[in-house]
Amino acid sequence: MTQTSRAVRIHAHGGPEQLVVDTVEVGDPGPGEIRIRHHAIGLNFIDVYQRTGLYPNPMPLALGMEGAGVIEAVGEGVTHLKVGDRAAYAAGKPGSYCDVRVMPAMNVCQLPDGISFETGAAMMLKGLTAQYLLKRCKPVEGLEKGDFVLFHAAAGGVGLIACQWAKALGLRLIGTAGSDEKCALAREHGAEFTINYRTEDFAARVKEITSGQGVKVVYDSVGKDTFDKSLDCLRPFGLMVSFGNASGPVAPFAPGILGPKGSIYVTRQTLFTHISSRERTQAMADDLFDVVGSGAVKIRIDQRFALTDVRKAHESLEARQTTGCTVLLP
Ligand SMILES: NC(=O)c1ccc[n+]([C@@H]2O[C@H](COP(=O)([O-])OP(=O)(O)OC[C@H]3O[C@@H](n4cnc5c(N)ncnc54)[C@H](OP(=O)(O)O)[C@@H]3O)[C@@H](O)[C@H]2O)c1
Repeated sequence: MTQTSRAVRIHAHGGPEQLVVDTVEVGDPGPGEIRIRHHAIGLNFIDVYQRTGLYPNPMPLALGMEGAGVIEAVGEGVTHLKVGDRAAYAAGKPGSYCDVRVMPAMNVCQLPDGISFETGAAMMLKGLTAQYLLKRCKPVEGLEKGDFVLFHAAAGGVGLIACQWAKALGLRLIGTAGSDEKCALAREHGAEFTINYRTEDFAARVKEITSGQGVKVVYDSVGKDTFDKSLDCLRPFGLMVSFGNASGPVAPFAPGILGPKGSIYVTRQTLFTHISSRERTQAMADDLFDVVGSGAVKIRIDQRFALTDVRKAHESLEARQTTGCTVLLP
């Protein structure tokens, strides 16, 4: 059966004005695929990178990597989902800015009854990212309760989840954010210390807070503007986890600089390596569902936009006007 759906697509890379609502045909799922009807769609900064062409893709491109809804049809060989299931996903294949889509089932998980569609759509990509950052990106000397970590953009979507989860793990999280209000929000969500990196020298403040020792891990999604100084926040053998480029891509650097800074480690991570199998996706999602179900991590949705107002949503995200998560409603 073929049906139609609204799908927000771009036909050329560029600004938010490139986002247009098209009508597309949606067929039946093939082997290993499902068809899902969205009740809510997650907005993520990666959608901006794909729109601008920082992460290029063939055109036309339907955007969106995160969503939640009800399974309408199941293709051959899919055993973990059935028609009528509530489900949510973060997936490497863009296309969630729509009413209904066919997609690979691998990253789609059943959504527990206690978690709403909006929460599911808001938390999968950002929550699974916080999960792998805090649980799988460990410095060689380990990460124990009481250790200091630095998390940039701590009042954002990934940031507020990471603040709460780090606290639940007993880590002492120092969060940076772009205003005093955002800093207060990060503290309310578990950051022990915050730094307004628009007005303060964050590397100097980190040294002060840690009595000159530095932190064991820096989680840096801001990129160009924060990378160099972030290296100066690490203690010897510390780990720099670069996972985004909200301010622009990190400039090339010579590995030789890492020795004098304390034989530190640098890694660039992407969620899509971590969720490259069904088993790993489900194990990480189960961990996220547990921490959200227990109330230790609350998913804060501070912005809701109609799917057709997606341009405004992109403008707000890029202008640093959002906090927590943003969802689009079909
Ligand atoms: N590699 C991965 O696996 C992975 C997965 C998910 C997300 N990410 C990355 O994690 C970051 C957070 O994602 P998110 O969707 O939750 O977004 P977000 O944190 O809600 O929004 C991005 C934030 O970055 C900060 N920022 C600093 N400089 C900026 C600039 N020049 N322009 C725009 N924003 C700037 C802003 O906070 P302040 O105003 O407080 O500075 C802004 O609110 C993004 O960089 C994203 O690409 C990576």
